Amino acid sequence: MTESRAAVFLDRDGTLIEDVGILNDPSYVHLLPGVAEALLELQKTYTLFVMTRQPGVARGLLTLDQVKAVNARLDEMLRQRGVVIERWYVCPHSREDECPCMTPRPGFVLEARKEFNLDLERSFAVGDHHHDTLMANELGVLGLYVLTGHGGRHLSDLPADVLVFHRFPDAAEWILRHQNHRRMLDDQIAKGAAIIQRGGAVAFPTETVYGLGADALNAEAVARIFEIKGRPADNPLIVHIAAFDQLLQVAASVPEKARLLAERFWPGPLTLVLPKRQEIPSVVTAGKDTVAVRMPSSPVALELIRRAGTPVAAPSANAFSCTSPTTARHVVDQLGDRCDLVIDGGACRVGVESTVVAFDDGRPVVLRPGGIPFEEILHSDRQAECLESSATHGAESPGQYPNHYAPRTPLSVYRSIPEHVEASADVGVLLFQPEGRRYRGPVEVLSLQGDEREATVNFYAALQRLDALGLREIAAQAAPDRGMGRAINNRLSKAANGRVEQGG
Ligand code: TXA
Ligand code: MG
Repeated sequence: MTESRAAVFLDRDGTLIEDVGILNDPSYVHLLPGVAEALLELQKTYTLFVMTRQPGVARGLLTLDQVKAVNARLDEMLRQRGVVIERWYVCPHSREDECPCMTPRPGFVLEARKEFNLDLERSFAVGDHHHDTLMANELGVLGLYVLTGHGGRHLSDLPADVLVFHRFPDAAEWILRHQNHRRMLDDQIAKGAAIIQRGGAVAFPTETVYGLGADALNAEAVARIFEIKGRPADNPLIVHIAAFDQLLQVAASVPEKARLLAERFWPGPLTLVLPKRQEIPSVVTAGKDTVAVRMPSSPVALELIRRAGTPVAAPSANAFSCTSPTTARHVVDQLGDRCDLVIDGGACRVGVESTVVAFDDGRPVVLRPGGIPFEEILHSDRQAECLESSATHGAESPGQYPNHYAPRTPLSVYRSIPEHVEASADVGVLLFQPEGRRYRGPVEVLSLQGDEREATVNFYAALQRLDALGLREIAAQAAPDRGMGRAINNRLSKAANGRVEQGG
């Protein structure tokens, strides 16, 4: 009997090619960056299938023949690059039809398993819609979610335990390194917990950015974190907990307003600065009598802390003053083998660090804008105050290093990108949203629709891609000064180290 093969089931629009809405013309087929190369690697191990949902056919917006012509065009483009798609499945129905093929129903997967003798337990599905990742879950197929296409704007529909990736090639890389998927991530978490118990340092995903964690009660282990990052000892760390009852292991007392904020936003991207318990070594808090605490929402982070059985002190897992890592690849690039383990849990769903809130006479004061917008803190407490610096107001908040989060390439922030940049091939452009101009240099767009959360998820990864190109300068467009836009502007202002266009 021939050995059964594993498969990767691929969504088409927004995953492999640009999502242009109703795609009825083969000349609009544009592969997303790196897709052909990634498929070429995957097909060495996996049989590839495309499964596309085209409810527009049922609604009379395009014909099945048009869908087939688009598939044929894409098939031809991929074949030219050496990629073979084994079978193209099209669901032309609308959700009301209750057909067996519409994702997340596993009709096509069962059909493919039978025809190609597939081992679904070793198979994957990749898509930019939460239905793509649910597809055939109960049959053992592991669904991965990409933030291109529909993905970045609809993250809130996605169950917490689904792994997300900025782009298809990142998902492909993860697949190739986790072929025995379920066990491998679980094994890494167990291994990470054991390393933390032994006093080691483990890089792990949180919903904000990757952290570099050690046992918060072990001073030597924490000192090693400062050493690995090259971080000055006067910059205190955040202690991460996995349950509310762990809070009193860390904080000596919890003001009423802190308790309310924790109940409202934990687990999540909110850090509270509280009076510290004596058991927390002073290396964690840089000698302060307060300690920063947060309960992350990433299931991988929570499971790691739970299994380590101790609060975990963790700064972001970047080299000091470099850009923060939102993928395991970023951590490996910056810290390499200096940490004992890097747990790869895909991309971070929020994409900027937590909002840090201290208490002044019991009143909440935001020290660092982040994953919870200030407006939401204010909604919970009308007396809250924000000491932020943003790209459009110059002021620095106290206790923060001005050149934090900096790329190697000099960066400037503008309300509107100056005209001379258009002709400069060696200037990279970081746009919050498209603005209809042509640039000679490379361009990264954070959100096609100008959605602040989507822009935040893409922010550090896009900045790092530009930074890797060896450009003379990066010109960045400021985000709107509201919601998550404040956190982006705060990071841009620090990356720019003062090169911020005022006013606007
Ligand atoms: O989202 C995050 O917060 C990530 C992930 C890994 O949880 N962590 C993170 O850590 O960003 P780090 O070390 O890069 O930033 C910690 C921030 C710094 O701005 C630090 O000054 C502030 O928290 N902080 C820590 N302890 C403090 C304290 N006792 N008082 C005032 N600020 C404090
Ligand atoms: Mg799609």
